[in-house]
Parts: sequence; structure tokens; C-alpha cells
Amino acid sequence: MKGLILSGGKGVRLRPLTNTRAKQLVPIANKPILFYCIEQLATAGITEVGIIIGETGDEIRTAVGDGSKWGVDISWIPQEAPLGLAHCVLVAKEFLGNDDFVMFLGDNMLELELSNMVHQFINDRNDHSLSCRVLLKKVENPSFFGVGVINDEGRVTQLIEKPLEPPSDLALVGVYFFTDAIHEAVLSITPSQRGELEITDAIQWLIDNERVVDHNILDGWWIDTGKKDPLLECNRLVLSTIIANIEPSVAIDEQTSISGAVQIGEKSVISNSIIEGPVVIGESVTISNSHIRPFTSIGDGVQVSDSILEDSVLLEGCVIDNAGLINASLVGSNSKVSGSADFADSNTLLLGDNSIVDLS
Ligand code: G1P
Repeated sequence: MKGLILSGGKGVRLRPLTNTRAKQLVPIANKPILFYCIEQLATAGITEVGIIIGETGDEIRTAVGDGSKWGVDISWIPQEAPLGLAHCVLVAKEFLGNDDFVMFLGDNMLELELSNMVHQFINDRNDHSLSCRVLLKKVENPSFFGVGVINDEGRVTQLIEKPLEPPSDLALVGVYFFTDAIHEAVLSITPSQRGELEITDAIQWLIDNERVVDHNILDGWWIDTGKKDPLLECNRLVLSTIIANIEPSVAIDEQTSISGAVQIGEKSVISNSIIEGPVVIGESVTISNSHIRPFTSIGDGVQVSDSILEDSVLLEGCVIDNAGLINASLVGSNSKVSGSADFADSNTLLLGDNSIVDLS
């Protein structure tokens, strides 16, 4: 089985951060979102992975490299414009051949044991002539998603993309298993109202043509990381699973107190500060006279002084000096925030890379 990761989207909802970086490379707990997808495929034993890339392709290729750090072979598949998820299958045909594959949306984070689904699909596709398995999750706002209807035998009988009147509360999560039957389906559909070839329509085509489409229900969490607050929620969820680890080269003075699950990378220096986990601190970070509260991720090379940080993601190279209380914030790389001694009011920021903010 092969893996296909869709990583072509532009990330307009995370602007200005995504003006200068691919949304799939925004870090959660100091690791790019896309890396979690690759890891999940690698852990499930999938070693041939195709990644669909668009405008931000060069940046993604540089960050991912050849895949050897996960033990996978990566094939890069350019998509000239974001013309839909089914269009991604079309452009990936040469890479996919006639193999079964699992398709994963590169900006979704989910708590899923993918290996179980892989094994189940391999068994069921032979026993029950299965041609597709989708992952569904109960949501409160199904109109925002593709929505599935299932019958008593667990077969999917209908799929509709973002219906105004949803026939169920089961949303399509961005993980799909396919046999080569999908290739005829993507060639047979026409663009939707939003001008995209919808994978939802392609799977409906399979159903209409008597193919068996099965489903799993996702019990774990699922977050589309395309906006700041869900991204921070995801950061909290991932941080709440980390195990404490402080590298030997880290310097921590006696005035500093560290509690909870805290990870600190090589060569970081912490002085006269309170660090309350879960917190992830990257390499070569300097923190002085500051309080780092739970659910904060601090990228490599960040300098924090005389400030309080809470529930935030700071990308590499930021300088936070005398910035009061910063919470629920996403701060782009190499940004500088300073100028507030007021720890009573909190400052919430969404900053692109290289921003300069004076809070005074
Ligand atoms: C896409 C799919 C939709 C699915 C969603 C999951 O929507 O078309 O069926 O529920 O991903 O994130 P889009 O993000 O393209 O609007």
C-alpha cells in the first residue's frame, strides 16, 4: 500500500503567518504538522509516500528532504493549481499505478492508530470487494464538511460535500483508503460549484456504480489546523502527551524552577525563571526572568526575557522582551515583541514571520 499526502493548499486562514511559510510546516510542539502525517504513515509500515505540492512546494521539499529520517521514499507530485482533492488523485496516477493507497490531508491532525485501519483495509478489500474506506467523525457543524450516511451493515450509502441540510452528523475526516477503482471515478466526475473536483463526489460515484464503500468512526480527536485557535488547541493536545526530557547541555541556574512535563533542547540557557509544563523548548533558547506557563511551544533560538508566556506557539528566532503576559498567541519566526510591563492584561497575537510589535 502507498501513501498520498496532500500538501498543496495555501493556508489563507492563517495569514499573515502563511504569507511567508507553508501552512503544513507550522509547528505543533516544535514539529511541523506535515511531519506528524509522514510519521503516522511510516509507523503503519507504508514506505512509498507521494506528497502533492503547490506554490509552497520548494519550502516543503527542503524541510522534508528525501524521507530517510522516517525510513520512507518520498515522491514529489506538483499540482499546478488547487483544483480539488480528486484532482490530486488524477495528478498522482503515475506514482500510484494500480496499487491500493491511503490518502491523508497534510494539514489535519488526528489521534488515530493508522496501522489498524491499514490491516483492516487489506483484509476487507479481498473478502468483501471493498473499494474504499472512509473515516467519519460525529461533529456539531456537519455543513462545514463532507457528510456521510451509513446503513445498518455499516456501508456508506451517500456522501455529500458541505450540505446545507446535512443528512447526518458524520463528517468526512481527511483520511481515505482506496483501491485502483478510484481512478475511473475521478475521471468520471465534473467540478463542483466551488470549481473543484471533489473526492466526496468521486466516492459517491463509486457508490452509484455498485462499489462497496465502508467506514470507520474516529473516536480520538481531529483538528483541522488551518486557523489559530484550533492550531493552539492541537498544540495543547500534543503537549499533554509529552514526556519530560532535558538535554544534558542545557544550563539551568538555581533560581529557576521547573515542574511538569518539560522538554528542553540542546544548548538552551534558563535563568531566574519558572517553567510549568507541559512546555516544549527548542535548541539554543535563552529564557531569563520569565514565567513560561503550560501549553507553550518555543522554537529554536528564541530569546525570552522579563515576560510571561502561556498557551502559545513561538516559531524559531523570536525575541520576546519585557512583553507582559502573552497568551493564546501564534508568533512567526524572527519576530520581536517588546514594550509592556503590564502583567495584568494579556496580549494575544497572530504574527507573521519577521514582525515587530511594540506593546508600549
Ligand atoms: C475537505 C473535503 C471534505 C472533508 C474536509 C476534512 O474539505 O472536501 O469532505 O470533510 O476536507 O478536513 P476542504 O478543507 O477542502 O473544504
